[in-house]
Amino acid sequence: MKVLVVMSSQNAGGLTAACGEAARQGVVDGKSPARVINLNEFNIDRCAICNDGWGLCRTEHRCIREDDFSKLQEMFDAAEGLVLITPVYFGEPSETFKAFFDRLRRCEATKKSGTRSILADKPTVCVAAAGGSGGGAIHCLAEMERLVRQLGAMPFDYIPITQKTREYQIETIHDGLAAMCAPKAVEQTMPLSARKGTRDGKRGKRRIGRRRPAKES
Ligand SMILES: Cc1cc2nc3c(=O)[nH]c(=O)nc-3n(C[C@H](O)[C@H](O)[C@H](O)COP(=O)(O)O)c2cc1C
Repeated sequence: MKVLVVMSSQNAGGLTAACGEAARQGVVDGKSPARVINLNEFNIDRCAICNDGWGLCRTEHRCIREDDFSKLQEMFDAAEGLVLITPVYFGEPSETFKAFFDRLRRCEATKKSGTRSILADKPTVCVAAAGGSGGGAIHCLAEMERLVRQLGAMPFDYIPITQKTREYQIETIHDGLAAMCAPKAVEQTMPLSARKGTRDGKRGKRRIGRRRPAKES
């Protein structure tokens, strides 16, 4: 599974960067290729809010602005799995993160009848990297969860991390990505018809029936 690790922080030596490295290593240990990018290194303007509120994003699913947006859109399209990592600012994702995803949502969440979001069914891990207090980390993750669903991606995990929880949550990020890339997890993200050992996958019969009741103790 080709995984795109997306960060959005100014600090090359900060917590977000450490999370990105843990995610990259987890993907590699899961025997998958990883591409790591930092949105802050790209030129991303805010949404122009064309016309009366909608522009080409609604009809042609592309953005009129001539910056790095379409290049990034192609990278998301090429990826098979995603890791979205943001520092927590005021209990929300970073401004860079929001500027990019506001525009991506307009282009992808508007696809209907036959066309699919470029993130459709792609397993996704979200990480919110907060300060000492960790205040707002859960709110930040809740916003990311909404975004992931609006984009049609498949949530795999949501991980909050602070300086206090850094040691063990870095491991969680690593292990989470290794698990996401493991063959079993990859198979579970496939459509039923493509899976082996299922009735739809034409190998063996799937047992459908009532579960045996749990024994009373
Ligand atoms: C503008 C700004 C707002 C912040 N707001 C919060 C916050 O609401 N909650 C929190 O726990 N930390 C907050 N922080 C701290 C950062 O989330 C924390 O330092 C994080 O590690 C930054 O990521 P970095 O190490 O990649 O720079 C804020 C920092 C900045 C610069």
